[in-house]
Amino acid sequence: MGKYDNMKYNRCGDSGVLLPGISLGLWHNFGTDAVYSNCREMILKSFDLGIIHFDIANNYGPLPGSAEETFGRIFKNELTAHRDELLIASKAGFNMSEGPFGEWGSKKHLLNSLDKSLKRTGLEYFDIFYHHRPDPNTHLDETIDALEYALRSGKALYVGVSNYSPEQTKEVIEACKKRNIRLLIHQMNYNMFDRSSEDIVDVLDSYSIGSIAYCPLAQGMLTNRYLGGIPDGSRAATEGTFLKRDNVTEDKLAKVRALSELAGKRGQTLAQMALAWVLQRATSAIIGASKFLQIEENVRALDNTHFSKDELAAIEKILI
Ligand SMILES: NC(=O)c1ccc[n+]([C@@H]2O[C@H](COP(=O)([O-])OP(=O)(O)OC[C@H]3O[C@@H](n4cnc5c(N)ncnc54)[C@H](OP(=O)(O)O)[C@@H]3O)[C@@H](O)[C@H]2O)c1
Repeated sequence: MGKYDNMKYNRCGDSGVLLPGISLGLWHNFGTDAVYSNCREMILKSFDLGIIHFDIANNYGPLPGSAEETFGRIFKNELTAHRDELLIASKAGFNMSEGPFGEWGSKKHLLNSLDKSLKRTGLEYFDIFYHHRPDPNTHLDETIDALEYALRSGKALYVGVSNYSPEQTKEVIEACKKRNIRLLIHQMNYNMFDRSSEDIVDVLDSYSIGSIAYCPLAQGMLTNRYLGGIPDGSRAATEGTFLKRDNVTEDKLAKVRALSELAGKRGQTLAQMALAWVLQRATSAIIGASKFLQIEENVRALDNTHFSKDELAAIEKILI
């Protein structure tokens, strides 16, 4: 059996793109503070498991840009022969550099950033290029101009948006249709603790457009990572991350323990059950990881993505 027989691939809406059920994101643990051999192991062994989709952004690090550089180094050294098998995404829109064009949704920011991201990764094109967040001060038409240019110039094969509201998502889909381009995907925050993106999926489903869930493990809270307290080296123990010590509350941990028990009855770990749950609505879940063992465990979520009515009801009861 080859790696492609072991991974489950899901069609992204009605497009030609098949995404692995589990994708890998480089937001954390791939910057200048990371150990290169560990990054290399996570990327290469993920690929061996059939994880062909890697999600990056211009500003991932620290320092901003460094996760793209790390990926670029691994790609250049060991993955160039596999370029046609890989789906690599980058994004622009969050604060990246100094000055008025260092972030948001102007054509100048997006296209400058796209060129810089290609340079840092050493790629000729991205498979998916995202606008990372809506810009309240730039007309959507200008942002879509940039996405259209990315497509027509061949610098991106597909385009997507992230963190757009349901209304903004509808607006961008309609605007793309008028230009005869397609929005491939929406990247949204979605996990058992944050279900605010379900309205977005309703919009996407009505247009047969795919979705990809980020932070599917609530940055590690929906795993066994914090059951015994906050361990050294974990995200919550690291300064400057978005998961603060205060986020790991007793109330959350009580839910995590109950969910973990339920997962055990399904023959899964909590991380596996949390990912299977997300995949009920999303085309793929982008996990983060600090070591390959976590990825290996998480991919096995795909062995059981079915939930009985009773299991779903029990989960609802815990999450209330
Ligand atoms: N579009 C956006 O605005 C946006 C925003 C955020 C993220 N993203 C994308 O989504 C990706 C994933 O985000 P995320 O890293 O927050 O996702 P996540 O999967 O919710 O959390 C990943 C963290 O959970 C812990 N973990 C994972 N598997 C584990 C396991 N089996 N056992 C114990 N702990 C485990 C690790 O924490 P430790 O590091 O503590 O070991 C890991 O770093 C990002 O890399 C990025 O590509 C996009």
